[in-house]
Amino acid sequence: MTDTFGRAHTYLRISLTERCNLRCTYCMPEEGVLLSPKSNLMTYEEIYYIAKTFVNQGVTKIRLTGGEPLIRKDIPIILEKLSSLPVELSITTNAVIVEKFIDTLKVNGIQSINVSLDSLDKEKFKQITRRNDFEKVYKNILLLVKNGFKVKINTVLIKGFNDNEIIDLVQFTKDLPVTIRFIEFMPFDGNKWDMKKMVSYDEIMKKLNSFYSEKLIERLEDAPNDTSKNYRIKDYKGTFAVISSVTNPFCDSCNRLRLTANGQLKNCLFSATESDLLTTLRAGKPIEPIIEKALQAKFKVRGGMDTLEKLKQPKLHSNNRSMITIGG
Ligand code: GTP
Ligand code: 5AD
Ligand code: SF4
Repeated sequence: MTDTFGRAHTYLRISLTERCNLRCTYCMPEEGVLLSPKSNLMTYEEIYYIAKTFVNQGVTKIRLTGGEPLIRKDIPIILEKLSSLPVELSITTNAVIVEKFIDTLKVNGIQSINVSLDSLDKEKFKQITRRNDFEKVYKNILLLVKNGFKVKINTVLIKGFNDNEIIDLVQFTKDLPVTIRFIEFMPFDGNKWDMKKMVSYDEIMKKLNSFYSEKLIERLEDAPNDTSKNYRIKDYKGTFAVISSVTNPFCDSCNRLRLTANGQLKNCLFSATESDLLTTLRAGKPIEPIIEKALQAKFKVRGGMDTLEKLKQPKLHSNNRSMITIGG
């Protein structure tokens, strides 16, 4: 599945649900989002069928997202079905209830798990997620590591809120073999984004450079199609990284397509348009031509918002969904 810029698309992100057991301020509006009626959501059979079609077209990696993917009642069946496909299967979760799924995840061959955690401070966690689950998440991260999963922690930085924890979070990797990924705050519908609230890649590195001497900060080689720029503090067990979608987009190496819980294909995280795979499938028609058309319509950078000026315009970035219904 190669687009007009020569990018081969091998990675499909599937959102399993629009619901979440947290309420992160940067991800959804306070009043919540309008949920799709249940009948418009993909069943596990439909998810499997669509995923299989993508695999036949060249997808080799599938990531399950949400909302919170683990709150879907049929998650064990979904994992079982998808694990029968020849793909690397992974999941992005807030880890609040992950302890219930350790065996299910293992049995279905999941090796790597990305966990959202924005603060090591219980009160701040509560403020940003509007829920009091810090301890559960913290314990569950340790549990995942203990069980041999490769864990990446996603931290969305918000200026004046959690940017004072950058050093603490990196120090967390001294004895714990996890990757902390700092994410530049991105604009989506209803998330009150403001460039002034974003902490940039440059600012993150400046902060670290003022704490650690330059020769202690090692730049690591990034994996192909990585969203992050990766680093390690010398002799630390874990690593840290920055996902700089705003100031340094990595669209040149993009290999990602997204499927929303209601069966819409998005050719980019920032795309304003969607292609309805589910209705086509339910009408008994082939979905391959729609996938191909969406792929060929993909913009070079951020759904067409190639400059910061464009990204900043609410008129443009609000054409997109709220993050909770995209899945990151
Ligand atoms: P790995 O497979 O471990 O590399 O994870 P990932 O970075 O693909 O996925 P994850 O769900 O952990 O997402 C981490 C952050 O990267 C989130 O803020 C996502 O929104 C962002 N992200 C993931 N994929 C893309 C993408 O295609 N484009 C952009 N701009 N950001 C992305
Ligand atoms: N900007 C950047 N990252 C975000 N995420 C959710 N909303 C945003 C945003 N506005 C991240 C979460 C989650 C991942 C899938 O997307 O941290 O880990
Ligand atoms: Fe790909 Fe769009 Fe993300 Fe760029 S912003 S990396 S084109 S999904």
